[in-house]
Amino acid sequence: MRRPLVMANWKMHGSRASVDQLIDGLVALESASRQNVVVCPSYVHIPRVIAGCADSGIGVGAQDCSHMHAGAYTGEVAADMLVDLGCQWVLLGHSERRQYHAESDDLVAAKLAAAQEAGLQPVLCIGETREQREQGEAFTVVARQLRGALADQASLAGLVIAYEPVWAIGTGLTATPEEAQEMHRYIRGQLAEFAGLDPEQTSLLYGGSVKAANAAALFAQPDIDGALVGGASLDSGEFAQIIAAAA
Ligand code: G3P
Repeated sequence: MRRPLVMANWKMHGSRASVDQLIDGLVALESASRQNVVVCPSYVHIPRVIAGCADSGIGVGAQDCSHMHAGAYTGEVAADMLVDLGCQWVLLGHSERRQYHAESDDLVAAKLAAAQEAGLQPVLCIGETREQREQGEAFTVVARQLRGALADQASLAGLVIAYEPVWAIGTGLTATPEEAQEMHRYIRGQLAEFAGLDPEQTSLLYGGSVKAANAAALFAQPDIDGALVGGASLDSGEFAQIIAAAA
C-alpha cells in the first residue's frame, strides 16, 4: 500500500520571507514523511523552494506550463525551463486556469504532451462546477475532461489525476469521503475503459478544502491516493497534520 501523495498548491501566494518560513516547516518534518510531499509554488519562487528543499526528499513542481517549446511566446514558461530549474512535477488544467484563462480540454491536452515530452510528471486537474453537479452532469463533465485531455496522448504511464470539484475549492465545502470515493472509482473505470490503463497504476488525488480535520477520512477511501491542498498548505502546522494523516 503506497503512502498517499500530498501535494501543496500555493497558488499566487508568497513572499520570499513567507516562502522561507514554509520551507523551514517542511524540511523540519520527519524524513520518511517528507518523501510523499510535493510543493507547487508560484513560478517566481521555484528556484528558492528547490534550493531550500534540496536533499529533503520533497518534490517541487509548477502550477502550469506552456504548451509551446522555446520561442517567441511572451510571458510563457516552457516545460523544458522547469526541468532545467529542477522541477519534477507540473499541475495542468487547474479549474482556476480553465476559469480565468479559458483553458480548453484541447489546450490542456497540448500542455500535457509538452510536459511529458520534457520529462515532467504532470498532474491533470479535473472537476465539475456546482451547477454541473446540481444538474446531474458531474460524471459527464469529468469523463469529457478526461477524454479531452488524454485521448491522443503518446503515453499515460504513471499518470496522476487530481479530482477537484470546483464547488469545494476554497469554499470549506469539502466533498464527503463517500462523494470523493464515488467519483474516484468512476475515474478509474473511465481510465480502464477508454485508455486501457491499469487502474491500479494511476494515482488519483482529491483536492478541494482538504484540512487536517478531514484528511484521514479522505485517505481512508480505497480510491483516494492522496490530496492536492490549497489554502491549508499555506499554514505549516495544518499542512504538517495533513501529511501526518498520510503516514
Ligand atoms: O489545487 C488545490 C486547490 O485547488 C484546493 O484549494 O484551498 O480548497 O484546498 P483549497
